[in-house]
Amino acid sequence: MPIYDTVLEAVGGTPLIRLHRVGGPERARVLVKLEALNPGGSIKDRIGLALIRAAEQSGRLKPGGTVVEATAGNTGVGLAMAAAVLGYQCIFVVPDKMSPDKIRLLRAYGARVEIVPDVPRDDPQNYQQVARRLADSVPGAAYMGQFEQTANPDAHYRTTGPEIWEATHGQVGAVVAGAGTGGTISGIGRYLKDQNPGVEVIGADPVGSIFTGPVAPFLIEGMGEDYYPDTLDADLVDRWEACSDEEAFAMARQLARHEGILVGGSSGAIVAVALKAARDWEKPGWIVAMLPDTGRNYLANIFREDS
Ligand SMILES: Cc1ncc(COP(=O)(O)O)c(C=O)c1O
Repeated sequence: MPIYDTVLEAVGGTPLIRLHRVGGPERARVLVKLEALNPGGSIKDRIGLALIRAAEQSGRLKPGGTVVEATAGNTGVGLAMAAAVLGYQCIFVVPDKMSPDKIRLLRAYGARVEIVPDVPRDDPQNYQQVARRLADSVPGAAYMGQFEQTANPDAHYRTTGPEIWEATHGQVGAVVAGAGTGGTISGIGRYLKDQNPGVEVIGADPVGSIFTGPVAPFLIEGMGEDYYPDTLDADLVDRWEACSDEEAFAMARQLARHEGILVGGSSGAIVAVALKAARDWEKPGWIVAMLPDTGRNYLANIFREDS
């Protein structure tokens, strides 16, 4: 094991793990990429430093400044880790549907957290709008813009995509991922299709999100949207499959109990979609499902003792 200079060097390099006991019988073999093993517990650790560097390079963020972001929690942790190492302050704006565990987590990293109602994007109280106004009004503050900055998908093109390709020795038939900003699915999808245009990119989408429509409220956190973000290249997605909150949360509980893998509700949705794809899969190669975050974020809701 190498000695790292800072925690940021420990981001990435997450394992692929084969599923055995949930689902079945499937024709294809399903691997999960466990992003919970990043030091901050999610796939968003991969974009924290990249967003900060992009803001520094464009001159928007100066030494000792304040990082501001609209986040469902995980991007906040990724940014907070990088901000701690680089000497920045943090303000995060989160919608009130986010789990209390995640909000405590952001505060544990020393961030200021503003909680706003979970309202559509055109509402002035929407978390992205509030975060932008804060960045304009706080001296030395810069909006990170995970929904707009190409640094987000680029981080996955540089790291997550190559990790999948190398670990499977190019034997990947399909990748299944959710889309919040779309950074993950676009970055990985572009990298894998650049290596082999035959790799199928499957988007898992909460019932109520726009990618499978119609738009309605849903409980799954971190994936699903009510608009198409700039950071999503929808042309790279071969097909979208919807998954309900109930099915997603039930699958998250099964993964913990039968595979020993504790992940969040979005991972449950992604695995449910991956297993369905695997059932009538005719092509060679692994199906790789991206599991974005740890179930420790959801002990108060998905993993409540009575659930
Ligand atoms: C909890 C969580 N975080 C992050 C992501 C990745 O989203 P993005 O599209 O923003 O890369 C997802 C997607 O499934 C997610 O569920």
